[in-house]
Amino acid sequence: MSWVDDKAYAELARIREAREKQVYPFFRPFETGGIHTSIHGKPIVNFSSNDYLGLTNDPRVKAAAHAAVDKYACGLSSSRVQATTVEHVELEARLARWFGFEKCLLFTTGYQAMVGTIASLADKDTTLVLDNLSHACILDGTFLAAGIPGRQPEVRFFNHNSVRSLERILKTRERKNALVLVEGIYSLDGDMAKIAEIIEICDRYEAVLLVDDAHGTGTLGKRGAGILEHFGLEGRAPIVISTFSKTFGGIGGILLGRSDVVELVQHNARSFLFSASLPVPIVAAAAKILDILEDEGPKLVAELHQKAEHMRSRLKGIGFDLGASDTHIMPVYCRDERKVLFMHVALLESGVMMVPITYPGVKKGEERLRVNITRGHTEEDMEQALSLLTTYGEAFYVLSGEDLGPMED
Ligand SMILES: Cc1ncc(COP(=O)(O)O)c(C=O)c1O
Repeated sequence: MSWVDDKAYAELARIREAREKQVYPFFRPFETGGIHTSIHGKPIVNFSSNDYLGLTNDPRVKAAAHAAVDKYACGLSSSRVQATTVEHVELEARLARWFGFEKCLLFTTGYQAMVGTIASLADKDTTLVLDNLSHACILDGTFLAAGIPGRQPEVRFFNHNSVRSLERILKTRERKNALVLVEGIYSLDGDMAKIAEIIEICDRYEAVLLVDDAHGTGTLGKRGAGILEHFGLEGRAPIVISTFSKTFGGIGGILLGRSDVVELVQHNARSFLFSASLPVPIVAAAAKILDILEDEGPKLVAELHQKAEHMRSRLKGIGFDLGASDTHIMPVYCRDERKVLFMHVALLESGVMMVPITYPGVKKGEERLRVNITRGHTEEDMEQALSLLTTYGEAFYVLSGEDLGPMED
């Protein structure tokens, strides 16, 4: 046994304890795709899915992927530099048009798109300005850039969604170029960025804004083109990054911007240049979802909003705390690790999956269930979830806010 084994054993203590108590909540294996699935043979409705418009399982999307398997197989065995297809290029052109940008570049994941873009753009003349609730890909891109010899940008954080705090940072930055990074919708909190004010501040302080719209794509704006469309601010943020891993039902990163900027990233981002290209069946599935959005986007987005509004008003009516959420992502706060784990296990036993978010994913005292409403949830799914949440919310004192008391052995 080496120090690595000792380290692993020591650092896994919390995981072992959760498993022993049978409340370990992660990596549960689904037996089929889609939000109506099963775990160990038991039917489950998944309320933690990001398949926001319910298109992952659409037969038209699956058929497109099947056809691409026949033509291109599952992978291209190389990176985009030497393994680009006409399907990649055509989809990039269509996405650029649909989102309203000059150019688009497809990465293999959204995470890689973010990391590669930040590392390509930030150098010693740059201050990276991050919301303090930034997604891991923004943090990791920043840490990577900060560690590249000779580039090392300044790194500053502003208080979550606080325009005053952002302004303070921009005013006092030490480097001449600022890149401000925000999310369209914050994935664990479900609140939208105050994008109009953020754009205004960025313009005033000559900062470049990069919006990660992973959760706004397909959910915000009449057509589903995201937060900029939602607020009528198309063209006002120079760089947007999104993903195929939510509404587009697959995997893949989307970088959108002006031609030269996207090309710079294309020729610099190591996460793009040195990682295998997006498999064509995934490209074909995303292209089919784009067809569907072009034809029916407004109707699908309206259906999602109607379901989300219904669920939000019912959850609030029952007395659940949804924090700052104002979208289809509506965390149900339990504010206690044991409560959130017990809620998760009890709900799962009853056929409803709501993943618990605990420390260090969120601060202690901010533990919550991840509840995402999608267009694929039925009235029945939502009624079942509401009834179970009420029962267990009372049983585990989530609704009353009382302490659970000491743990019995
Ligand atoms: C806000 C945000 N940005 C980026 C990503 C990364 O996207 P992908 O799953 O395509 O790597 C995610 C997904 O978890 C996300 O929630």
